[in-house]
Amino acid sequence: MSIKIPFGWPIIDDEERRAVTEVLSGPILVHGPKATEFEAAFAAFVDAPHAVAVSSCTAGMHLLYFSLGLGAGDEVIIPAMTHVATAHAVALTGAKPVFVDAELETGNIDIDKIEAAITHRTRAIAVVHYLGMPVDMVRVRRIADRYGLFVLEDCALACGTRLDGVHAGLWGNAGVFSFYPVKHITTAEGGMVVTRDGLLADRIRLLRAFGVDRAHGERKVPGVYETVALGFNYRMSEIHAAIGIEQVRKLPGFLQVRGENYQALRDSLQGIPGLRVLEGQHGAGTQYTHSWYCLNILLDDRLAKQRAKVIEAMNAAGVGTSVYYPHPVPRFQYYQQQASYDNRRYINAAAIADRSLALPVGPHLGTKEMASIAKTLQTVIKGIH
Ligand SMILES: Cc1ncc(COP(=O)(O)O)c(C=O)c1O
Repeated sequence: MSIKIPFGWPIIDDEERRAVTEVLSGPILVHGPKATEFEAAFAAFVDAPHAVAVSSCTAGMHLLYFSLGLGAGDEVIIPAMTHVATAHAVALTGAKPVFVDAELETGNIDIDKIEAAITHRTRAIAVVHYLGMPVDMVRVRRIADRYGLFVLEDCALACGTRLDGVHAGLWGNAGVFSFYPVKHITTAEGGMVVTRDGLLADRIRLLRAFGVDRAHGERKVPGVYETVALGFNYRMSEIHAAIGIEQVRKLPGFLQVRGENYQALRDSLQGIPGLRVLEGQHGAGTQYTHSWYCLNILLDDRLAKQRAKVIEAMNAAGVGTSVYYPHPVPRFQYYQQQASYDNRRYINAAAIADRSLALPVGPHLGTKEMASIAKTLQTVIKGIH
C-alpha cells in the first residue's frame, strides 16, 4: 500500500511558483533583493535585530564556529540526541564535539550534566530545541555566562519555538534555522542565522561570501573588490529566498495547524497501552511554546524490541513515520572512529534513538488524518506479539 499520510510534505503553492518564475525571468539570481527581503521577513517573525540567510543550517553553524576561530584543541558541548549536522559543524573546524546526554522526558540536553562536561578547552555550548520543544535557555545562559562561553542554538526544528515569549535563537549568542523540505517552512535547501549581535551578523555576512568586502551591487567599479578574510560560498540564492518570502507569510497558519493536529493526535493516543508521548517542559512560572515539529512517542520494552515491525506495519497501512534520531551522535560509526566516546554516558539519548517513533502533525494533514494515525497505531500494536 502506498503512503497516504506522509510524514512530511512541503506545501508549495502558486505563490511560490510565481515567485520563482519572477526571479528566473530577470537577471539577478544571487546577491539580490530577494535574499535581503527574506532576511527582513524572517527577522520580523522571530523579532531578531539581525538575520543572515545562508545555504543551510549546517553552513550557518559552521560559519559561526569558524568566525569564533575554533580549531584543534577546542571543545564544544553539544547534545548527544541531535542530527549529526550539529556535531559536524563543530568537527569541520577541527574542534571536538563533547556530547551530553538527553533528558528522557523531553529529549532536550540534560542541563544538569553540562557543567561536568566543561573543561579549560571548552569554547561554546550548543543546544538543540529537540523537535521544537524549548530548552530552558535561562539555565543554559547562566552556565555559559559563568564560564564565558558562546551559546549557539540549533533551531533547525524550532520555527515558532519560544520561551517566555522570546523566540528560540535569541537567547544564545546566535541561532540557526533550517529550511530543508520537511521543516516548518522550506526554501528547498536553506538556513538563517539570527543574532542580537550586529558585529557578529556583519562577520557572518562577510564569511558567507568568500570574505569579500563588497557585495555585487555595492562595487563602485564592476568586478573590483578586496578580500579581507578567509571565507566560504554559503550564500542563499534569489530563487531559494523567493520561496522563503512566501513561506514566512504562511508560517503562522502552518503553526496553528500543527498545534491543532498535535493536540488532536495526543488526545487520540490516550489509552493506547505501551507508549508514552515526549513533551515540552512545563516549569513553574515559565512559558514554553512548542513548535510541534512532530509527535514523538516512546515505546515500552516489549514494543521497542519490535519497533521495526511497528514501523513496517504503520507504513504498510499508509501512515508515514520517522525516527529522530537513529543514534546518539557519538554512537555513529564516524564519531566512534574519531574518539573513544563512552556510549554508556548517553543512555537517555540511546533510549530515545532505540525506542521512539515520530508521528506526523504537519500542515499537509488535518484532524481527520490524526484520528486515522491513532487508530492505525492501535491496530498495529494489538497485532504485535
Ligand atoms: C537538529 C538539526 N540540526 C541541523 C540539521 C541540518 O539542517 P540543514 O539540512 O539545513 O543543514 C537538521 C536536519 O534535519 C537537524 O534536525
